[in-house]
Amino acid sequence: MFTLLLALTLSLLPQVHSLTVPLPRSASQYSPTKIRVSNIDWYLPSSLVESKIKVAFHEVFHEVTSLEVKPPRSSKRDEGKMNGGSAVVEFNSEAAAAEALTRDTSPWRLSQVIEDEDPIETKPELTPERIILRKDRAARYARQRARRALGIDDLLSCVGEIPIKLNPMSIRDIKWESAPPGVDPASEGGGLKIGSSRAVRKRAAVEAFVTMLSHLRFEDSSTQKLSQLRLADLGSGTGNLAIPLSWATGANVLAVDIYANSLARLLKRVNEAGLEEQISVECQDILEVNLEGIDAVLSLHACGAASDLAMEAAVDKKIPFVISPCCIGKVNVKRWGGGNNGGNAERAGKPKELIYPRSLWLRDKIDTDQFQLLAKAADAADGAGDSGSEWFQRGRKAKAVIESDRLMWAKERGYEVEMLEMPKHEGYGKTELLVGVPKINK
Ligand SMILES: C[S@@+](CC[C@H](N)C(=O)[O-])C[C@H]1O[C@@H](n2cnc3c(N)ncnc32)[C@H](O)[C@@H]1O
Repeated sequence: MFTLLLALTLSLLPQVHSLTVPLPRSASQYSPTKIRVSNIDWYLPSSLVESKIKVAFHEVFHEVTSLEVKPPRSSKRDEGKMNGGSAVVEFNSEAAAAEALTRDTSPWRLSQVIEDEDPIETKPELTPERIILRKDRAARYARQRARRALGIDDLLSCVGEIPIKLNPMSIRDIKWESAPPGVDPASEGGGLKIGSSRAVRKRAAVEAFVTMLSHLRFEDSSTQKLSQLRLADLGSGTGNLAIPLSWATGANVLAVDIYANSLARLLKRVNEAGLEEQISVECQDILEVNLEGIDAVLSLHACGAASDLAMEAAVDKKIPFVISPCCIGKVNVKRWGGGNNGGNAERAGKPKELIYPRSLWLRDKIDTDQFQLLAKAADAADGAGDSGSEWFQRGRKAKAVIESDRLMWAKERGYEVEMLEMPKHEGYGKTELLVGVPKINK
């Protein structure tokens, strides 16, 4: 019996080996003296990252032989980033590196460096076989893309006419030159490079929010002046909306974010700008936010489902909202507990109560899986891309469906809604400003 079992087991072995399970790395592949610091905030200047690393490792820093902060990639999407998100620190002994690895450097992550992890690129020789392989691969990708395009186009025609149109808007300029330190998103505190397209867009977005505020109708008639408003900026990050908006209007703003480190940077900017009286912070998941005493909800680029949570918070409280959503491919990502600071910022994901499509209007036409395909296509137009490309245009149509779905959800709950196109966002996928005001019951 035992021999039979052994023979059976052995006969199975080759199949087990044929599985493509990645092999664990052997100890010799790790460099014993180097460690990688990752999850670094992209918008910190490299010199500041270096000095922060020195502080974090101060006890062993005399044993550091080199420190290299990775530069940002030169792609259009990474424009404005000030470092590449990681650094490699080399120590003069294995013991010092091992000691450094035990430090708590949260939110940074520490890991061993794998030798040849960043090898110098050597181009393999272009043999006739490789040329054929490349052509085959290119043809396969082209076929896949064409199939995907057809699928998205089918879905778009299945959705048909979009009930909410994207209307142009004009914005009121803010005099950025007279802003105190810490206010302008295109300043050191804001982290965006002056003149970069990201900085131009962020400033325009703030101007669009400020402009919209004076068009909203508030239940509390004492809030006629912008300076009397109490607003909540949900998913505030480091304050690129809350701070300039509060400075430009005099309004009180409650900045809410799940990520404590961003709020710490926001508070530093608030102090620099002298806006302590006007801006308060709450480190919290939007899902649990308390909007007591708040007149309107604002939200700029809150990741995926967080924009829906912001809208839902406003609708629950029956107050106006102005929301410019972020990438949406993540809307169906499940909620992700743990991480630093009681939950990870970008990955907070979708709580199970949120169902996509959001509105009855869209649910009548497509299901959740089809919605997910449209959301992915919408993200294809996300970064500043080639606005003339077929995929960009298809992505923009998909985005219009998804943003209409959000607004239709609010409309089905008694809101007057509007979708506006923020100026200075040409060739960019996140141009929509979603505005909703509860209808007055006569
Ligand atoms: C792309 S950033 C935008 C920050 C800022 N509004 C701006 O435009 O510069 C998105 C922010 O939303 C926050 N966020 C995402 N999900 C959240 C949630 N469920 N609750 C609170 N904050 C959240 C993230 O931590 C991050 O700071």
